[in-house]
Amino acid sequence: MTGSPFLVPRLPRHFLSIPDFSRSELEALLRLAESMRAGRYAERPLRGQTLAMIFMKSSTRTRVSFEVGCYQLGGHALFLSPRDAQLGRGEPVEDTARVLSRYVQGIMIRTYAHADVEAMARHASVPVINGLTDLQHPCQVLADVMTIRQHLGDIQGRTVAWVGDGNNMANSWIDAAARFGFPLRLACPEGYDPDPDVLARARRHAEVRVVRDPREAVDSADVVNTDVWASMGQEEEHHERAAVFEGYTVDSALMQRAAPHAIFLHCLPAHRGEEVTAEVIDGPQSRVWDEAENRLHVQKAIMAVLMGGVPLS
Ligand code: CP
Ligand code: NVA
Repeated sequence: MTGSPFLVPRLPRHFLSIPDFSRSELEALLRLAESMRAGRYAERPLRGQTLAMIFMKSSTRTRVSFEVGCYQLGGHALFLSPRDAQLGRGEPVEDTARVLSRYVQGIMIRTYAHADVEAMARHASVPVINGLTDLQHPCQVLADVMTIRQHLGDIQGRTVAWVGDGNNMANSWIDAAARFGFPLRLACPEGYDPDPDVLARARRHAEVRVVRDPREAVDSADVVNTDVWASMGQEEEHHERAAVFEGYTVDSALMQRAAPHAIFLHCLPAHRGEEVTAEVIDGPQSRVWDEAENRLHVQKAIMAVLMGGVPLS
């Protein structure tokens, strides 16, 4: 019986960047993650399911939090590195997507080109979750928004400052500003601005400013945020970047310009003495350990919704 709505295969829903969810869905997702963090969620929506985790780059937090989170929801996670999987020997991402979809119920991928994650999603018949690309790191920024809610309440009306490279984290913050509607100020050296398309898309919905002076970004901000100067894949640029980013270190003097209640965030791993001083990251305003923990809760919520069919309400 063709034409029956019951026979139309349902397309899987993916999470490749923050705009993949509406604002109300993101808020429901965060509430679900918060109930998980509070220990109020005992369901096992991934029972009998497997998540394939493809890591073309290194990871501590993403790997462990997805694997532990999947297990806690009743599922099993499979770690695939380029050293072992055929993807590392050039098997096309499209073929990998089709094959993995025959075995597993979800795919988490961390890789270089964002286009590879999009290709994975186009050819997979199971949900695909972005665990970081050169362009985006959406799971991390959702965990960061959750950390702001934990310590400052609603993100609405809060000003977030970004200091440093206009990298994958900066781009996902710009997407978050657009979705949640908070002002975002980014201080980046010339030539290291965020992605122009991401910026243009967000500016239709939120006040997003790119400035050169970190003090201008941080003045009276509620949240001060930074990241490494050379991301994974840019290791050979480390020395050149260290010179360009001189003056972009988040230190106590810079933190003093922020609001008195301001919190400091960093996705980690951090380089003390480069983008942040030890005094700040290990100091009383730092919330980086809660931020790392929130990866677990927010990703459990994402898996529960995309793989486990838990409704977002
Ligand atoms: N923040 C983050 O994604 O950490 P890992 O690279 O350790 O996964
Ligand atoms: N911008 C960093 C984030 C690491 C979690 C990188 O891509 O290496």
